[in-house]
Formats: sequence, structure tokens, C-alpha cells
Amino acid sequence: MTKVKNWFIKTINSTLGQKMIMSLTGLFLISFLVIHLTGNLMLFKGDGGAEFNAYANFMSTSSIIKLVEIFLVLGFGLHIYTAWRLTKYNKQVRPQDYVYNRSDVSSSWISRNMGFVGSIVLIFLLIHLYNFWFKYKFLAGMPMIATGEYKDLYLFLKITFIEEWWISIFYVVSMIFFGLHLAHGFESSLQTLGLYHKKYTPILKKLSLLFAIIVPAGFAVMPLYFLSQFFLGN
Ligand code: HEM
Repeated sequence: MTKVKNWFIKTINSTLGQKMIMSLTGLFLISFLVIHLTGNLMLFKGDGGAEFNAYANFMSTSSIIKLVEIFLVLGFGLHIYTAWRLTKYNKQVRPQDYVYNRSDVSSSWISRNMGFVGSIVLIFLLIHLYNFWFKYKFLAGMPMIATGEYKDLYLFLKITFIEEWWISIFYVVSMIFFGLHLAHGFESSLQTLGLYHKKYTPILKKLSLLFAIIVPAGFAVMPLYFLSQFFLGN
């Protein structure tokens, strides 16, 4: 038993083990993203947010979702902590201050700057959680739906994205970084998890690139949708 325990501790502390943790938590977080994006697509229904508000109210009151949120926090926490450890380790083993940098030749910009891109995504996430999750849950004076049953998150999003238009710009720009993060994350995950197949890997790579474009684009359209409502006078 102690042998298994020692092996496990050694594995999760090895570079490969940490890359595995990054890949697996990343894939788990992606499943959340798909659900989040699908739910948020209700914003486009043109029903003044009725369906979106009912959905948001369900999500914030359901006990099953509260349980899922614990895993979500753990997933994000582990993903970010492991990223920090790996970046620190990479800096230690990489010779400092190259006279000339051959990595320019052999690796892409994104693979060399994943720490930077990931930090921007993290800053986005913190601002995002404060803007919507925190305010939705705790801000006094949130608008309510006409029947007074629950909060009008749709109206709150609309006001935020229009009146604080710089937040909309920040969202759109962040989604570019997020796309880069996802694209590179997928690529490294395929390598780390050793998923190589002559026929299927290239298809999987194309699909993951498509995902890394469509999902951030879907999120970026949301603030733009509200801004366009403002400019078109809806
Ligand atoms: C314009 C795009 C987006 C909109 C309009 C949006 C909207 C929202 C809203 C209204 C909430 C709080 C209400 C709720 O808990 O249901 C929320 C929560 C959250 N969002 Fe977003 N979101 C967007 C993009 C993103 C992206 C790109 C990420 C991840 C990188 C993200 C991660 C989260 C997380 C982790 C929560 C907390 C979830 C929870 O505790 O249940 N969101 N979002």
C-alpha cells in the first residue's frame, strides 16, 4: 500500500504527472464551458431574457448545481496551481538570458508564452466572476423580473455591457487570448495523453482548433449583441 502511495505521489509530482493533471482538469473545465455557452445562448432568444433568467435562477438555487460548483472550483484551482508549478519549473530548467534564442525557431509563440496567455485568461476569469457571479449572488439592488420572483440577470448583463462598454471590449479581447489558450491546451493535451493515431489525430486536431475558435467567438458575440441592441435602438 505504501509502495502504491509513494508511486502515486512521485507520479503527480513529476513533470509528466503535472502535465496529465493539466490535461485532465482542462478537459473537465471544457465540459463546463460547453454547458455555460449553451445556457448563455438563451440570451439570443429575443424573449427579453425570460428563459435565460429562469435558467440562471435554477442554476443558482439547485443543490445539484451547488455540488457541481465544488468540483468546478477544485478543477479550476488544480488547473491554475499546476500551471503555476509547471511554469516555475520550466523557468528553473531553461537556461536564463540566451545570447540568442533557438526556441524562436523550434517552438511557436503560444507555446513559449502559455504562462502569459493563461494569466490573462485568469485575470479575465476573476473580473468576470466579480462582475456577474458575485454581483448576481450578493449585490443589493439587482433588478428583479416583473413578477418579483427572482433577479433579472438578463437586464443586468444588458446594462453592464452597454453602460460599461469598456467591459464589453475587455471581453472581446480576452476571448482572443482564450482562443489561443484553448488551441494550445488541446494540442499539448493530445501529446501528454499520448493520443496518437495516423488517421484520427489530424482530424482530432482540426476539430479541437474549430472548438477553440467557435467557443470563444460564441462568448465574444454576447457583449457585442447587447451593444448592437443599443446602437440599433432595441
Ligand atoms: C460574454 C461571455 C460570458 C457571459 C455573458 C457569461 C455570463 C455569466 C454569468 C451571468 C454568470 C453568473 C450567473 C451564474 O452563475 O449562472 C457566470 C458565471 C461564471 N462564468 Fe461566465 N460568462 C461568459 C464567459 C465566460 C467564460 C469565457 C468563462 C471561462 C473562462 C466563464 C466562466 C464562468 C464561471 C466559472 C462562472 C461561475 C459559475 C458558477 O459558479 O456556477 N464565463 N457567467
